[in-house]
Amino acid sequence: MNIEQKPEIIKPNRSVYTIYKYANLNSTNAFLKQHCASLPDYSVIWADEQTEGRGRFARIWDSQPGLDLTFSILLPLTSLEQQRRQNITQIAALSIAQALEGYGLKPSVKWPNDVLIQGKKISGILCEITEIDERVCGVLGIGINVNNTEKFLASLDIPATSLRCELRHKVVRKDLLKKLLEIIINCFNVLCQSGFTLNRQEIKKRLAFINEQIVFTDVKQDSYSGKIIDLNDDGTLLFECEKRGIISLNSGEIAFHNSYTMRKSL
Ligand code: BTN
Repeated sequence: MNIEQKPEIIKPNRSVYTIYKYANLNSTNAFLKQHCASLPDYSVIWADEQTEGRGRFARIWDSQPGLDLTFSILLPLTSLEQQRRQNITQIAALSIAQALEGYGLKPSVKWPNDVLIQGKKISGILCEITEIDERVCGVLGIGINVNNTEKFLASLDIPATSLRCELRHKVVRKDLLKKLLEIIINCFNVLCQSGFTLNRQEIKKRLAFINEQIVFTDVKQDSYSGKIIDLNDDGTLLFECEKRGIISLNSGEIAFHNSYTMRKSL
């Protein structure tokens, strides 16, 4: 990361957010965590090129300079109940899905942090909590495949797509980002003021793999085979596990491949 870089500052009229656009950064999440003490709430760090993008479970988030969207937003957590923090990722997924619907697409939310189009990943979310001088903040990092090429997407280890591949034309990233930020901030305010109920209904309508046979891997890398039944009121997943009956899942992820080999079947 070049600390001498001066970002382009984008502050649309009447918006609560300010976008700081950098030519290149290692990771927008890492940068925002490092600088959050000097930045106001709803600061958005956008990198045209991200050289060390990170995903959940310490995975790499690959991107193509100038073609996709990689950004992080600083969310104030002072007026959010602690048990609602786990819902930030889900409301981000909902917001991305709603923004993509604005382009006429039919996205689904792969609980808890991916957005898919016809089973292919178009976006991933990494939300981290950080605390500096008693100011608790959420660093919500989002990667969206916008104008990525088919060749690049085919090189990834999971099925993936981009807006350009779906729409057959390029999309102006700044327009998408501005639309998306308005939706995220609105959903986040709803979460702070009224809890998860309203957002939950909207996520449920878009939930991927509901009632389908899937394999779920928890944070300890144990795998469960079964069916998603519902999204609980608190945002956990109600799951009918073949071996353990009905259980609630609060973290982990759904495997992309049906042929997924289970390390340990529970
Ligand atoms: C995942 O799919 O596991 C989450 C991917 C999150 C990637 C975004 S890109 C912007 C922000 N900066 C990062 O280093 N990661 C997130």
